[in-house]
Amino acid sequence: MLLVTGCAGFIGSNFVLHWLAEGGGTIVGLDALTYAGNLASLSSVIDDPRFTFVRGDIGDSTLVDELLARYKPSAIAHFAAESQVDRSIHGPQDFIQTNIVGTFRLLEAARGYWSGLPTPEQPAFRFLQVSTDEVYGSLGPDDPPFAETRAYEPNSPYSASKAASDHLVRAYHHTYGLPTLTTNCSNNYGPLQFPEKLIPLVIHNALAGKPLPMYGDGLNVRDWLFVNDHCRAIACVLEAGRVGETYNIGGSAERRNLDVVHRICDVLDAERPRSDGKSYRTQITFVADRPGHDRRYAIDSRKIQGELSWAPRESFESGLRTTVRWYLANEEWVRGVTSGEYRSWIDTNYARRSGVPA
Ligand code: NAD
Ligand code: TYD
Repeated sequence: MLLVTGCAGFIGSNFVLHWLAEGGGTIVGLDALTYAGNLASLSSVIDDPRFTFVRGDIGDSTLVDELLARYKPSAIAHFAAESQVDRSIHGPQDFIQTNIVGTFRLLEAARGYWSGLPTPEQPAFRFLQVSTDEVYGSLGPDDPPFAETRAYEPNSPYSASKAASDHLVRAYHHTYGLPTLTTNCSNNYGPLQFPEKLIPLVIHNALAGKPLPMYGDGLNVRDWLFVNDHCRAIACVLEAGRVGETYNIGGSAERRNLDVVHRICDVLDAERPRSDGKSYRTQITFVADRPGHDRRYAIDSRKIQGELSWAPRESFESGLRTTVRWYLANEEWVRGVTSGEYRSWIDTNYARRSGVPA
């Protein structure tokens, strides 16, 4: 039995679907269903007897205590977070509340539950913190990729809040002996991602005939990983990761943002050509940069590859094609998640960036 927080978000829902498809055992999923949480993403398993959904906040200690006592999970996979950098710039409060205070409360609940387990069962318990490469800060063009030994230098309220929660997880292991694991992963993409992040936003805007906003010069670099490869990595770390350790996960697929958007346009041009025969590339619009925009992320994933024999299976090109096709085939899902709240966020984020009409 696993307790999965943030199970209705992008990676959490992909993880639940992956875990159940692989016959990985029962799950209780906890999610507050913020704007980023969509039960529609879990519709195929909502009636599966191996899956129980609970709507609630990771910071609600009474609820989490009850869930732990009732379901007696052998592990907590902690995905729940506020996760979008631009939102953290517009309003950091929710990031502090969920990512730091919420993780602290979850750790306290986990510690209480774990310390009450019969002594022989305690060593097998796991608390897995799902984190990001953004905690390491920004790389120069010739710097080596982020290894687990690199010092944290977070630059955005989002990455600072994730860094703080990673430090709390580390402290709960060192101070109390809680059997923790931490994963720091690069940018994910794939089905079920909310269209506020670069790849689904560009697909969504392209099809709607809207501008494809490129922050700054479009040459910032991210290391992209197909979401299913991330889910496989988390399953590997849960099963065989060494307690107290951190594992960096990446796709070895560094791409400049502009190249990513060009590639999306090329796939769309082939799969759903514009009626006027022009390329979707003509919709690319350069807009004001994100404040404090990290230039480059890259992951050194030799540790997880060597210790746990994990490697990404999807190339960026095949993963992107699969992703674009998924969005083309699931316009209903996109319509369902692009609610009034979504439209107001698009207005807030892009209205002040010249070049993109709100
Ligand atoms: P997401 O924003 O799509 O999903 C987050 C989920 O958490 C949502 O379902 C939301 O409803 C839920 N949630 C938010 N606050 C909550 C609270 N207080 N209590 C309970 N549930 C709450 O995020 P994602 O992209 O799926 O990311 C999942 C995790 O992976 C995050 O911790 C993120 O930092 C990390 N991560 C993401 C990426 C990426 O590229 N998306 C890369 C590396 C790491
Ligand atoms: P994003 O998907 O927000 O992920 P992160 O900021 O966590 O890396 O953004 C990926 C990259 O794309 C990042 O360099 C910012 C850039 N970007 C744009 O150029 N335009 C956009 O509209 C968005 C959302 C992101």
